[in-house]
Amino acid sequence: MSMRNIIIGASLVASIAFSVMPSTTIAAEGGAEPLPNHKWGYEGIFGSFDSTQLKRGAQIYFEVCAGCHSIEMVYYRNLVDIGFSEDEAKAIASEYEVQDGPNDEGEMFSRPARLSDRFVKPFANENAARSANGGAFPPDLSVITKARHGGANYVYGLMTGYMEEAPEGFELSEGTYYNKYFAGHQIFMAQPLFDEAVEYTDGTEATLDQHAKDVAAFLAWTSNPELEERKRLGVKVILYLIILTSMFYVLKRRIWNRICLDEYTHGPYVEEFETEINKNKRPN
Ligand code: HEC
Repeated sequence: MSMRNIIIGASLVASIAFSVMPSTTIAAEGGAEPLPNHKWGYEGIFGSFDSTQLKRGAQIYFEVCAGCHSIEMVYYRNLVDIGFSEDEAKAIASEYEVQDGPNDEGEMFSRPARLSDRFVKPFANENAARSANGGAFPPDLSVITKARHGGANYVYGLMTGYMEEAPEGFELSEGTYYNKYFAGHQIFMAQPLFDEAVEYTDGTEATLDQHAKDVAAFLAWTSNPELEERKRLGVKVILYLIILTSMFYVLKRRIWNRICLDEYTHGPYVEEFETEINKNKRPN
């Protein structure tokens, strides 16, 4: 194998390896504790979301987190993408009220949410949210796995990282709870999940660990709803590039073989080149 072949091969392998590598940002923000390093099914080049897990995660969000956190970037109709039937998604939406209007009399009115509405916010505005949460603001969770180092592992860690008592010598401020993975360890959110926090209908065991993974996977989906689409396209692009590169390589060899063999050994170029050399030769 020539040097050039080795370089072409190595760069091809490297570019594929880079595109396949899962992101491994596993440092907790500000905390010394390394985050859990769970293998998420949607990672890797062929990974995809597990729709039964996303449905469980959505259930946890609606039953537990939605009391304090909004997910403003997602619409009820998007629930159909993760495996809910249209009727199920409609039923979930109809449990929430939205402001609409003005009607014919010019007045605003409220009506049950529809598939075309975004997830309804639990609080009218930031001040209302803060005053209900001891002054702390429960952030919107639409893209939380992108907004925090560690992504889904961070959410998973945050859900499972509560300790009943702070370590000796650690003074917790009033209204805060000790969490191993939260930056600074004092968080205003009380532990939201416990064993059997929600009742699963698909037979999965309702442990804290399972709840935490399911809601983290769901939040990874809300952050990356187009992930699978993107991966499918990525695989196609890589295959296309591999085929194209091989074709160009074969083509290049054929062209250069002909030039080397015919033209530069006994073609007109060789004669021209030789006369050129002879012309420039100085008699010694
Ligand atoms: C009773 C209200 C309440 C509930 C229920 C709740 N949270 Fe929170 N959450 C908060 C508050 C308040 C904060 C801000 C904490 C702070 O800044 O100290 C927060 C912060 C967070 C953060 C951001 C932490 C960070 O790094 O800034 C995440 C992620 C989060 N919650 C996830 C969840 C999930 C998932 C659920 C459901 C399983 C949930 N929360 C349920 C009130 C709540």
